[in-house]
Amino acid sequence: DPQVDAGELLASPLRAAREALKTGVEGLPLPPQLFGPARANAAGWDVTCPAHWATLHTALASTQVERIPESAPASVADTMTRLAHGFESWEAYPLAERAAVLRRAAAALEARLPEFCGLLVKEAHKTLGDAVAEVREAIDFCRYYAQQAEERLGEQLLPGPTGERNTLRCTGRGVFVCISPWNFPLAIFAGQVVAALVTGNSVAAKPAEQTPAVAARFVAVLHEAGVPADALALLHGPGDTVGAALVADERTAGVCFTGSTQVAKLIQRALAAKDGPIVPLIAETGGLNAMLVDSTALPEQVVDAVVQSAFRSAGQRCSALRLLCVHEAIADGVLTMLAGATAELRLGDPARLDTDVGPLIDGEAHAHLRQQVARLEGEARLIARSPMPTLAQAVPNLLAPVAFELARIADVRQELFGPVLHVVRWGPGQTASGATDAAAVVRQINALGYGLTLGVQTRIDGRAQQLAHAARVGNVYVNRNMIGAVVGVQPFGGEGLSGTGPKAGGPHYLYRFCAEQTVTVNT
Ligand code: NAD
Ligand code: ALA
Repeated sequence: DPQVDAGELLASPLRAAREALKTGVEGLPLPPQLFGPARANAAGWDVTCPAHWATLHTALASTQVERIPESAPASVADTMTRLAHGFESWEAYPLAERAAVLRRAAAALEARLPEFCGLLVKEAHKTLGDAVAEVREAIDFCRYYAQQAEERLGEQLLPGPTGERNTLRCTGRGVFVCISPWNFPLAIFAGQVVAALVTGNSVAAKPAEQTPAVAARFVAVLHEAGVPADALALLHGPGDTVGAALVADERTAGVCFTGSTQVAKLIQRALAAKDGPIVPLIAETGGLNAMLVDSTALPEQVVDAVVQSAFRSAGQRCSALRLLCVHEAIADGVLTMLAGATAELRLGDPARLDTDVGPLIDGEAHAHLRQQVARLEGEARLIARSPMPTLAQAVPNLLAPVAFELARIADVRQELFGPVLHVVRWGPGQTASGATDAAAVVRQINALGYGLTLGVQTRIDGRAQQLAHAARVGNVYVNRNMIGAVVGVQPFGGEGLSGTGPKAGGPHYLYRFCAEQTVTVNT
């Protein structure tokens, strides 16, 4: 059966990697995970190196996830008063000193990478490879925003025709409220907080309820690096009490939020309903991210990119692939290979070297996604599913990566935040759905209303450019996977239901945390 052969073809290198893993850490000859280690190799940590794995495992064994007490809603007001005072003195620090604090924090994170990885695995159930990449990203945010602040935020002289001395300067706005999700409990938390701090704001930082310990540890790093106690406070607790109280507080001068589109809209409404100043909101939210595959694409490359984009990190990335739109001419071959590759993924304990897909964040997410998979089982055709591990290797809240074929793009109704992929065919034969050419597919993707990431797989360069321009999304990835944007070179963030911009890790990000003042002197 040629279709089965196609699946076997892709699966065989994965099997070889598995066999190699059986020799254990000491003799590890190949990357311990099937998902690429490229980013994690930065910062001196090589995930293919047995000695490094041994260090990470030792750290993991001794990691304790400390219990962080919830902040009483009543204490929010006191903290905001303290932070409002702290703003005055922190903003007066020279820009170079604020940048130096971020660089010291980066160095501390680098030195304590195994400890932070241990926390990410134990508290957020990250695989070790994902944990290393996340610490690296947090380090990158600290260094990049320090550099950007020094390059861009100093006072500028604006010579011109008025004959006066015109200067423009950027200042902090006051107390910035930073609210973050659990899926990047270090990198996103750190990115928001250090951007707000380096621009001169004091910060009320509210991590997700599920992951306060890693946030608390990073706040301690920042204090040790020189952020005064009254310029940064961690407030932990439920979003609808502690988060809402922070948003509602009269001292709040700006909100930086990353999380679901639904909560972003709640915050937007709450800010609009407040008396007093107009408070800016930076919101980075969810996505219904598609990959468009045309008939010239390379099936092996497509399947590799799909598996990484849809199933890595158990699909718990805002950037993750949710909708594969594949040309009818190559669809059967691609989907058969996808079934073969998905069947090779190993689910299990995120601390194990040979785990590709760890558990979902908690029982609530697991119950919700199981319900959604059951719905899809009734409505759509099953394309691929990973095997569940045996009982002995099982950990709670594992969800088998799964792909379903639907008739129309519009049938994809909501962001399912896990390893669940929808597949739709397009091409001249698809008159019933109207997805008959690539331009129509992009129009239908745009009509979903989200705008975060798009993958394009084609060997026609002009088509890739055309589709990228037609797509209303923030990040387009051509002939590769569509996750893991790199700070400073792949600024990340979307539009529409996916957020307000500016892009995290990009050159325009810091300005949104600033107030700007023009001073004109009659000379
Ligand atoms: P969430 O919206 O449920 O929670 C995010 C944060 O908001 C948490 O800290 C939560 O406590 C807080 N919150 C909840 N209700 C609130 C309220 N009424 N007022 C103030 N704060 C409130 O999201 P989540 O489940 O933690 O994260 C997953 C979501 O985040 C997904 O939709 C994902 O796509 C999105 N996300 C987006 C990006 C991006 O950069 N675009 C990155 C990561 C995650
Ligand atoms: N910045 C993360 C990524 O690109 C969410 O996958």
